[in-house]
Amino acid sequence: MSVVATNVQGKESAGVTPALWSSRFVFIMAAVGSAVGLGNIWKFPYITGQNGGGAFVLVYLICIAIIGIPIMMSEVMLGRRGGRSPIGTMGAVAAAEGRSRNWAGVGIMATLAAFLILSFYSVIAGWTMPYIVEAAKGGFAGIAAEDSGAMFGGLLASPGQLLLWHSVFMGLTVLVSAGGVKHGLERAVSWLMPALFVLLLILVGYAMTTGHFGEALVFLFRPDFSSLTAESILVALGHAFFTLSLASGAMMAYGAYLKKDVSIARTSFTVAIMDVCVALLAGLAIFPVVFAHGLQPGEGPGLIFVTLPVAFGQMPGGGFFATLFFVLLLFAAWTSSISMLESLVRFLEEKGVGRVKAAVGGGLAAWLVGITTVLSLNLWSDFAPLAMFERFEGKTLFDIYDYLTANIMMPLGALLTAIFVGWVMKPEHSAAELGGQWHALWHAVVRYVTPIGVLVIFYFNLF
Ligand code: PHE
Repeated sequence: MSVVATNVQGKESAGVTPALWSSRFVFIMAAVGSAVGLGNIWKFPYITGQNGGGAFVLVYLICIAIIGIPIMMSEVMLGRRGGRSPIGTMGAVAAAEGRSRNWAGVGIMATLAAFLILSFYSVIAGWTMPYIVEAAKGGFAGIAAEDSGAMFGGLLASPGQLLLWHSVFMGLTVLVSAGGVKHGLERAVSWLMPALFVLLLILVGYAMTTGHFGEALVFLFRPDFSSLTAESILVALGHAFFTLSLASGAMMAYGAYLKKDVSIARTSFTVAIMDVCVALLAGLAIFPVVFAHGLQPGEGPGLIFVTLPVAFGQMPGGGFFATLFFVLLLFAAWTSSISMLESLVRFLEEKGVGRVKAAVGGGLAAWLVGITTVLSLNLWSDFAPLAMFERFEGKTLFDIYDYLTANIMMPLGALLTAIFVGWVMKPEHSAAELGGQWHALWHAVVRYVTPIGVLVIFYFNLF
């Protein structure tokens, strides 16, 4: 039997080949830990609010189903086959197909996207910490919407505070990453994700008592296509990648640690479904409170940080639940940020850098770039470096990082991945990983549906 037909692990990865996840369950938990994070609880509600609700949610769900899940299967498959960092994997798998090693460029772009995301993600994740402190002090009890807004505004206005929490969060990320993801992650995510889920259910339960639950259901699930623009479709597509941790090396890097006998198709479905459930629950928890208090659905990145304290402030036991919620949100962000650093750390390891050095170096660099996001929120809030392009008018550096990664790099990376697995890689080779019944359907989708879908959405945004 030829080695190439089953995997392409060769001498190059010797020495840094890590231990595999101990079970399918652990991989699911690690992948869900990566997928579920600020994207579901912070970003999904606010971009849904900004893009008019129902129609946007529908497009997002369609993108997850017909583009996100097939790409997740592709990435996990490539990762397991290559068994290296995403950069090493793309080069090695391409070479094993007799193609150019330049396909490693897809891995480079993914690693770069993850790095840029990590830089601002850490700043936002940092916000959870002052909220934990405030919640524990009982600071949300009976708080009015205006006061909650003022509290959030006060945090953003303080570069010192933001920098402090950004630094703490990046430190936490580097800490786990330096120790090797499997040690820290395996145990933590197995209880964390279920706990977060239960807490969201409690919040949805509270939201039902606000008298505005029906309004929120209509907002989230009745599509009003008049509010849908070409740009909101691109935002929905970009978010499908962001929320599933795709085109960023995360799933490919984790796939490299996956045992051969685990079904990639079933596992990817499970991860995607759990991810979508968390996002929808977050929406159902937040929008009733938004409507009950006359807040603006389109208010932007502060949405959950302004609305949730108001909800907690009125719930019995609100101080306790609020503290727990922000702690869990911090953990959810943490298990995501660790996965963002993974492709870079693995790559540096392959280049002979020690794991600790790689994690500290990568984290430090992302921390430095993150400072520009800290400043975008206050001192540099009027600095719009790309204002000469209409699309970027009024966009701060933070807005630009977000746009560039989610709306350009991720769709482009996914497009190239689909072309690679659909057209470049031999179907027998992908079938060896993906196995029986799903392979034909998956192959047709990545060959035609995914590339055409991404191209069409790009086209309508550029012209
Ligand atoms: N999926 C994560 C979230 O929704 C973000 C993420 C993006 C994680 C890219 C890893 C890689 O919060």
